[in-house]
Amino acid sequence: MTGLRQFLGSTIGKKVVMAVSGLVWIGYVVVHMSGNLLAYAGPSAINDWAAFLKSTLPLLWGTRILLVVALVVHVQAAYSLKRLDRLSRPVGYTRVQHPASTLASRMMGWGGVLLLVFLVYHILELTIGVVHPVFSHTDVYGNLVRYLRTWWIGLFYLVAMVALAAHLYHGVWSMFQTVGVVHPRYDRLRRTVATLVAIVVPVGFASIPLAILFGLLR
Ligand code: HEM
Repeated sequence: MTGLRQFLGSTIGKKVVMAVSGLVWIGYVVVHMSGNLLAYAGPSAINDWAAFLKSTLPLLWGTRILLVVALVVHVQAAYSLKRLDRLSRPVGYTRVQHPASTLASRMMGWGGVLLLVFLVYHILELTIGVVHPVFSHTDVYGNLVRYLRTWWIGLFYLVAMVALAAHLYHGVWSMFQTVGVVHPRYDRLRRTVATLVAIVVPVGFASIPLAILFGLLR
């Protein structure tokens, strides 16, 4: 037990926590995005899928609890790693240079905060249904087209998907590092997998608000 506590308190322990909790969310967004694409097959396809997901209560609540726990430990470990990083060099660099970091890695902090804000708004809007006067618990398709055709809501979703792309890219890249895949020989593989995840998932998601804004889904 003490060993586990010591491990979780270490830098590598926190990185493993970030990787595992991040993987839980990656699994969720892949399934969620694929389910959303059913909107192209018409209202009943996505509504039936949503009804199916909600019909098995242990599955629904098990997933929700897993997601909340994964999110809390992910954010906590990120905050704690950031603090350790600051403590290890209390005097800031006079001139900040980013030789090895990518734009995606520099966006992790603020991008993560934006994703959190998006997630809270998103759940209040499309799951709990308290943002707009009209909300249906069964007509998921109707909610989507009714809300996302307002340009600024659609735009907010699109901006959040850009943050998601950067987060996924750097997250998948770092995950390889945490599990020890760091040899330059694997750099191409790491980059390819990170790029694929960071493109396919956000583009699949973003296609829905875009299709609604352009009137293809109505
Ligand atoms: C354009 C992008 C997105 C669209 C159109 C979308 C759409 C939806 C819809 C329609 C629901 C309600 C489903 C239902 O009532 O059955 C929902 C719920 C949810 N979405 Fe999204 N989503 C998007 C992006 C995301 C992203 C990026 C995340 C995570 C980072 C996410 C996480 C969730 C969660 C956690 C729920 C609640 C699920 C539950 O009821 O347990 N969504 N989304």
